[in-house]
Amino acid sequence: MQAETVHVDKLSEHVGEEVVLKGWLYNSRSSGKVQFLIFRDGTGLCQAVLEKTDDKVNLFNEVKHLGQESSLCVQGIVRQDERSVGGYELAVTDVQIVHKTEGYPITLKHHGPDFLMKHRHLHLRSQRQWAIARVRHTVVEAIRKYLNENDYILVDTPIFSPAAGEDKQSLFNVDYFGEEVALAQTGQLHVEAGCLSLGKVYCFGPTFRAEKSKTRRHLTEFWMVEPEVAYLDMEGLVELAEEFTCAIVEHTLKHRRAELELLGRDLSDLKKVQRPFYQLRYSEVIDLLHSQKIKDHLEAKLEVRRKQLAELEKNIEEWTAQQESVKKQWQKEKLAQQILEARDEAGDLREQIENIPYHMELAAAFEWGKDLGGSDETIISELHDKPVCVTHYPKEVKAFYMRLDRDDPRVVENLDVLASQGYGEIIGGSMREEDFDILLNRIKEFGLDPAAYEWYLDLRRYGSVPHGGFGLGVERTVAWITGIKHIRETIAYPRMMGKLYP
Ligand code: 4AD
Ligand code: MG
Repeated sequence: MQAETVHVDKLSEHVGEEVVLKGWLYNSRSSGKVQFLIFRDGTGLCQAVLEKTDDKVNLFNEVKHLGQESSLCVQGIVRQDERSVGGYELAVTDVQIVHKTEGYPITLKHHGPDFLMKHRHLHLRSQRQWAIARVRHTVVEAIRKYLNENDYILVDTPIFSPAAGEDKQSLFNVDYFGEEVALAQTGQLHVEAGCLSLGKVYCFGPTFRAEKSKTRRHLTEFWMVEPEVAYLDMEGLVELAEEFTCAIVEHTLKHRRAELELLGRDLSDLKKVQRPFYQLRYSEVIDLLHSQKIKDHLEAKLEVRRKQLAELEKNIEEWTAQQESVKKQWQKEKLAQQILEARDEAGDLREQIENIPYHMELAAAFEWGKDLGGSDETIISELHDKPVCVTHYPKEVKAFYMRLDRDDPRVVENLDVLASQGYGEIIGGSMREEDFDILLNRIKEFGLDPAAYEWYLDLRRYGSVPHGGFGLGVERTVAWITGIKHIRETIAYPRMMGKLYP
């Protein structure tokens, strides 16, 4: 092939030119003398049109039988075409087949989530996963950009960890030459030491928690970025969390608009992510959970879900009846796929309808001293059109290192940021206890062995200062920004209880 190789996302720069695209066959259909090849090259989708002219009869016949995900190079002339996917198409002059594929397991029909997760290594090629991967890339880019531009120094913290960073329950233990150590739940403790050396620092890496519950918000391996700042106070901590979140959302909106639209995200929600966020103390959250407002909200939500379910059930019935009457095979297949998708959604709605009354009870019965549950977080975040900063939790439900509030030592100076639209916590952080005696006491209260924290206590022996920071979970943030329901799609290879393949 003679022409210049270009990428689908740069086709606009080559209108009228003959170019080569290298990639894979995503889908194809033919209508007699014309074949429409939907082609992907990693940067986007493009329709390539192959006409059965006298000089191309053999090529036409060969290409006609190519299976989905066959790899090929197509040469052709770039045309602008509004109706075409991506706005440009290729009038094919030549095709070079690189690898013929048969029986690709993931068709463009509906597959259940278990099947897709087992074929995750291939699932990544589908358009939706492609879009999510690109958003994730940009979220990570935004994180590094914000921190680097604001003079934070990267400190890489260890994954083999000598002691619990958060709680003892969710530790993954590994054998380290005969000694039992844990995989890091957080880099925070080590990055605090970096902070007292460098002032403003961050760590960014994978973290591990033996989460035994299967929820749509929990992975056992997830990525966390943790900024930590010396001479900070609570106000500064909140400000940093707000600015950081806004910077990530803004950068992603700017650079991944098309992907977010493809995923069906309502961009107006994201545009609202501006400082200041809503501020609630834990005690105010309790008042809210007990309020009539919450009852009304949940009752209205229940009503909406019931209506949605009734509508879906009606559609399923209608489509099932139509299946009998339609003549063409492709029409039958299309209906079958719609029905499968609707059944999935109906299942999800039934689950919600079952759970809402229970969540209502939980909210009404919430008592001071308990940790907020997933459903409480969902409710609070549904009631706000911007993220909510929740602070000053009872010290018992938070980690040992959090600074006691000197005005009310029953609570700690902590900060959780709950994302809007029901996504719940994306950031958890706090001011750190800088007083040696109080910290030692807290370590003991939590049943932890002070000997394992000798080095950490040193940070309070030598040049202790007020300092604080937080951790932002990449997967939860990506789920929120993309608007997808389950966190498992936000990372290429999700790790959850019972999920380790591929
Ligand atoms: O609130 P967490 O547990 O905070 C810490 O680990 C602190 N040491 C961070 C710090 O102050 N430097 O976790 C922080 C964030 C959560 O808000 C959430 O976004 C994410 O990490 N996260 C998880 N994401 C996916 N799956 C899980 N099992 C997660 N657990 C926490
Ligand atoms: Mg937390």
